[in-house]
Amino acid sequence: MQSTVTINGAEVELPGDPRVSLLDFLREHLYLSGTKKGCDQGACGACTVLVDGERRILSCLALAVQYQGRKITSVEGLAQEGALHPLQQAFIEHDGFQCGYCTPGQLCSAVGMAAELRRGVPSYVTDDIGTDTIEFSHDEVRERMSGNLCRCGAYNGIVAAVTEHNGGQPRRSTAQEDA
Ligand code: FES
Ligand code: FES
Repeated sequence: MQSTVTINGAEVELPGDPRVSLLDFLREHLYLSGTKKGCDQGACGACTVLVDGERRILSCLALAVQYQGRKITSVEGLAQEGALHPLQQAFIEHDGFQCGYCTPGQLCSAVGMAAELRRGVPSYVTDDIGTDTIEFSHDEVRERMSGNLCRCGAYNGIVAAVTEHNGGQPRRSTAQEDA
C-alpha cells in the first residue's frame, strides 16, 4: 500500500525510512525550505507547521510517517493564488520581522493559535477555563505565542500583527513587557 501525505495541497509519497523527521522531509526531501530548523529539539518554534489546516506542531519533533493520510501546511502553503495570506501582509505592515528566520514558524503558529482560541482551548492566562468564548487579548497572544522565539526581538510587531489580523486593537507594549 502506498503511504502518502498531503503537503500544501499536493499528495506526496512518504519517505521509506521511518526515522525521517517531518522537518527534514519538508526541507531535504521536498526542498520546501521555508520551514526553518532553529534548534532541532523542540525549543524555538521555528519549525512550526499546521496539521489538517489548524493544529500547530513542531515538525522537528514529528516523524513524517506519523502523518500518513493527513494534510500538512507549511509557510509555502499559506499564500493562495499568488496573494499573501492576510497575516503575512499584517507582519509586513507591523514590522513583525527583522532577519525573517523565525517568521515562517511565527505565521503557522499564529494561524494555529487563532484556531485554538476559536475552539475555546484555554491557556495559562485564561481566567475562566470553563468558558467557551475566550477573549482575544494581548496577554493571550503573548502567552500562546511564547513557544516561538525571535532572536531579533521583533516581538512587538509580531504581537501587533497577530492581534490586528484577529480583529483586536494593536497597542504599544509597556517598558515592563519589553524587558
Ligand atoms: S527547530 Fe523545532 S522547535 Fe526549534
Ligand atoms: S525576525 Fe530574526 S529571529 Fe525573528
